[in-house]
Order: sequence, then structure tokens, then C-alpha cells
Amino acid sequence: MKTTTDGSGDVRLDGIGKTYGAFTAVHPLDLIVPQGSFFALLGASGCGKTTTLRMIAGLEEPSCGTVRLGDQDVTQLPPYKRPVNTVFQSYALFPHLDIYENVAFGLRRRGIKSVKKQVEEMLDLVQLGEQARKKPHQLSGGQQQRVAVARALINHPKVLLLDEPLGALDLKLRRQMQLELKRIQTEVGITFIHVTHDQEEAMTMADTVAVMNAGRVEQQGSPTELYENPRTTFVANFLGTSNLIEAEVDSRSGDDIVLRAGDGKLLLPAARCSAPAATGEKVLAGIRPEKIALTHADDAGSVPGGRNRLTGTIADAGFIGVSTQYVIDSPVAGALAVYAQNVERDTRLVPGAEVVLHWNPAHTFALDAAQDIDAGTEEEAAV
Ligand SMILES: Nc1ncnc2c1ncn2[C@@H]1O[C@H](COP(=O)(O)OP(=O)(O)O)[C@@H](O)[C@H]1O
Ligand SMILES: [Mg+2]
Repeated sequence: MKTTTDGSGDVRLDGIGKTYGAFTAVHPLDLIVPQGSFFALLGASGCGKTTTLRMIAGLEEPSCGTVRLGDQDVTQLPPYKRPVNTVFQSYALFPHLDIYENVAFGLRRRGIKSVKKQVEEMLDLVQLGEQARKKPHQLSGGQQQRVAVARALINHPKVLLLDEPLGALDLKLRRQMQLELKRIQTEVGITFIHVTHDQEEAMTMADTVAVMNAGRVEQQGSPTELYENPRTTFVANFLGTSNLIEAEVDSRSGDDIVLRAGDGKLLLPAARCSAPAATGEKVLAGIRPEKIALTHADDAGSVPGGRNRLTGTIADAGFIGVSTQYVIDSPVAGALAVYAQNVERDTRLVPGAEVVLHWNPAHTFALDAAQDIDAGTEEEAAV
């Protein structure tokens, strides 16, 4: 099954919001999740992800707005009347039933007698055919989570909601399960709405990611779109690492904006500027660490023309095998992160060395300077 475009199975949230007394957990938000897509709600703990999911499931009554599935308004329907199933972090399997009966449960409850074919298909889908007669406690965490997915999918929901389903697993198993869930979703073609605080998880799995911050969706798009073109400092810092450099709009040069940062100039493609760009406006020029090249100051003359460049001193160099992560002190921009692939290492690039940082201007983006430059940096560390 493929993502369909007729809208008949889309999940549509119109102005949906939730307040608890004076506290707003979710500000009124609009979202469209296309049928058949793998959609991730990404954000730090407490930003309103679970509340949003529970409103879609019918487990939480919205304070305002509507939930639609295709052309049906389901806002007033109780959970069991919605074509939606939820998988939680705690798998909530029935401990006294074996795997087969756990998966069969939804069918039996609806009075269906011949469950064998469907249960076996589901067990095959999640690759647990061999484990059918074991009890949940005899399975690993990843296997139990797959049982929970099978148990939900056997009801043929239009939408499967997953609330941090991999949160209890260790890192390696989590990575495996990410690929596994993605494969299952592709195979069954059911809409998945996956909640996570792990940006890598959201980017690996989802077609579309909505980044939430303090009860609002800050930006949504494909993982590459969000990573390459963040529109807020929160998104720039929460998804990977961004260097944000305080700069001022100087002039226009064809399709580029010329920025002044200290006594240097940086070029910015006008199309990548999500801030007011009149001369004199302050902006935050952004560049990702892996886009920057380092050249020892002695070789500064070898840096090709037409590249954005800054100078600095290496403050720290962390070798992590596949790459080296540098921190460069720059008089213009403060501490800058630079990630260099471990291909040909210049042995002079050690702490204390004077360097030129340079990059293709096309990789520069710019954000409105009226935001907290550090938004989104703490949240990830706190998780
Ligand atoms: N029943 C409730 N009463 C009061 N506050 C709540 C309730 N449920 C959630 N909240 C608050 O709403 C905010 C969002 O919660 P939640 O949606 O669970 O966040 P997330 O899933 O992103 O961690 C949090 O600050 C939480 O404390
Ligand atoms: Mg939650």
C-alpha cells in the first residue's frame, strides 16, 4: 500500500488544544498526517507530545478544536469507536497469555472464532512465528514490543499511535527496532504516528517530522528539510548541532545577501534566510559543523576564493574514530563546532593551532535574531 493522495484516510487536527486549569499543555495546533505516512512528533519531555497523541486516540478530551479521520469528525467518539490503536512504552501485554493469545486477543474479543490465519500472518510480520507459545516474560524487550505492535495491527486500525515505544530499550536494540518498525510500516501501509524525544530516532524512521516545543509545533517537514533549513533556533539546535553566528545584513549581491560578522563578510543565499533581511537587520547566520573545512593558518593562501571564511584557534580536538570534533575559538563568533571526517588528517590541527574555517556559502542559513540563540541546546542534554 502506498500513501494515497485523495485525503480519505488523512488524520486532520484543526485548532486542537489542551489546557489544564491555567496551564496550556498544547496550544491550538493544526496538523495533517497523510494516510500511509510515517509521521513523528518530536520534542523534549513535557512539550505536549503524549497529550496530542491521547487526543487523537480519544483518551483525552481536547479543550478546543477537532480531530478528523478522513472525512469523519471523530472528536466526540469514545476511543473504542475510533479506528485507532495505541502502543505504549510499557508494552502492557497479558502476562498469563502466551504470545499467540496476546496477538489473538483483539479478534477473540470481537467474537471471531477462526483466528489462526490472521495471527500467524501477524506473527510472521513481526518475525515471532517461532515464539508463539512463549509467555511475554520469556521474550526480550524488543520482542515484547513487537508483540505489542502485532497485537495492535491485527485490529487493522487506520492509524497506529506509538508513544515512545522504544524508550525502555537499550541503544543497540533501539536502533534495530527502529529499522524493524519502519519495515513493518512500509509493509502494512498503515499510518504511523510516532512520538519520541530522540531526534535521531525521528529522523531515521519518519517521512515527516513535526518538532514540538512548549506545546507548539515549531516546524514540520522531511528530516532533510528540517536539518538543512531549520526556521527557528530551537529546531536548529535540537536537531543535531548548529553554529549560530550573530551577524548584520550589509547589502545584497545578486541572489545572495552579504552579512557582516565582526570585521568579516559572509555570503548567504537569500532563499535560505528566514528573517527580515533589510540592511542593518540583525540575523543569526547558521552553519552545520560538518559543512566547515579547517585549514591551518600557514596554508591560508590555499583556501579557494568564493568561500565563507572565519579565523580562529583550536580550543579542543576530540578524536572519535570516524571523525574529529573540534571546538574553535573565533574572535567573531565565539566557540564554533567543526566535524572533520577522518580521511587525511593534518597533524598540525591540534589545540592552540591557528586555523581558517571555510565553507561553501550555499550551506549557510539565517534565522531571526530576536530568538534565544541557545533554545533547544539544553533540552537534549537533559533527556
Ligand atoms: N492530567 C494532567 N494534569 C495537569 N497537567 C498535565 C496533565 N497531563 C499532562 N500535563 C502536563 O502537560 C504537559 C505536557 O505533557 P505531555 O503531553 O505528557 O508531554 P510529553 O509527552 O511531550 O512529555 C506537561 O507539562 C505535563 O506536566
Ligand atoms: Mg510523553
